[in-house]
Amino acid sequence: MTFDPVQYKTTTRQQWEDAAEAWHRWGPTLETWLGPATEKMLDAANVTTGSRVLDVAAGGGGQTLAAARRAGAGGRVLATDISPTILSYAAKAAAEAGLTNVKTLEADGEALDVLPAGSFDAVISRVGLIYFPDQQAALAGMRRALRPGGRIAAIVYSTPERNAFFSIPVSIIRRRAQLPPPQPGQPGPFSLGSPGVLEGVLSIAGFEDMRVEAVPSPLRLPSAAECVRFERESFGALHQMLAGVPAADRPAVWDEIEQALRQFESDDGFVGPCELLVASAAAPWTVDQRHERR
Ligand SMILES: C[S@@+](CC[C@H](N)C(=O)[O-])C[C@H]1O[C@@H](n2cnc3c(N)ncnc32)[C@H](O)[C@@H]1O
Repeated sequence: MTFDPVQYKTTTRQQWEDAAEAWHRWGPTLETWLGPATEKMLDAANVTTGSRVLDVAAGGGGQTLAAARRAGAGGRVLATDISPTILSYAAKAAAEAGLTNVKTLEADGEALDVLPAGSFDAVISRVGLIYFPDQQAALAGMRRALRPGGRIAAIVYSTPERNAFFSIPVSIIRRRAQLPPPQPGQPGPFSLGSPGVLEGVLSIAGFEDMRVEAVPSPLRLPSAAECVRFERESFGALHQMLAGVPAADRPAVWDEIEQALRQFESDDGFVGPCELLVASAAAPWTVDQRHERR
């Protein structure tokens, strides 16, 4: 089976259209789980008062709101996503929070040239870039959108071994759906997680001053059953893989996943192993610009 990036992206968009409501509904769980890494991502992108921030693959807007609070009334955040439905939740959340500095735009993260060049101080992307079939096209657009010296910061999962809460469901679904292992360079949750991969793709895209920090981010829930409910309802990537399993067989797949995840239950509830990488880098100055700055 050859990988078809156009078909993949069409399916990705539809899966997130379908999962949008659930991703939004699980928002409080997401923010508790991803919150500490999100703050590190905003630090790494130098998001501060007055920042102009581009959020790529913004989803329901958890990190959008965090960025908007930092940027304040003098700054602004543009939240973009390929799924208009999930983005509508980001817009609603910003309005409900009284954040008037947030705008949303339906946009493919690989086609950001609709934005004026050099018009952002920071670009952020939380667990989004991993799902892009052409990560270099995405990074080129982000680099173009940044002013020279502006920083990109992204959160991705590290390796399957350090993210059992997700890699166990992925491997069970892959086996049941008889999917081949992902090829290097193909999109997927762990596509940027191996040591050196992020630095490599950022360097190829022409970024400078790369920094990568591993952030332990255990997923705490009352039980393994609750973790399965969270992933079953809201993880678009799992739905996409599960499409290859006949609908009648899917409940048994989820049962197997729950059994496997029970190993992370104790008297303290469920603690799913998760390690995130917060990667950041700077858009370069041209030689002329460097000269002018002196
Ligand atoms: C795991 S969700 C993360 C959402 C949000 N950043 C968060 O952390 O809550 C992945 C998001 O990537 C978006 N996405 C996937 N492919 C995309 C693409 N090519 N361009 C823009 N967004 C994309 C999906 O629509 C979805 O909202």
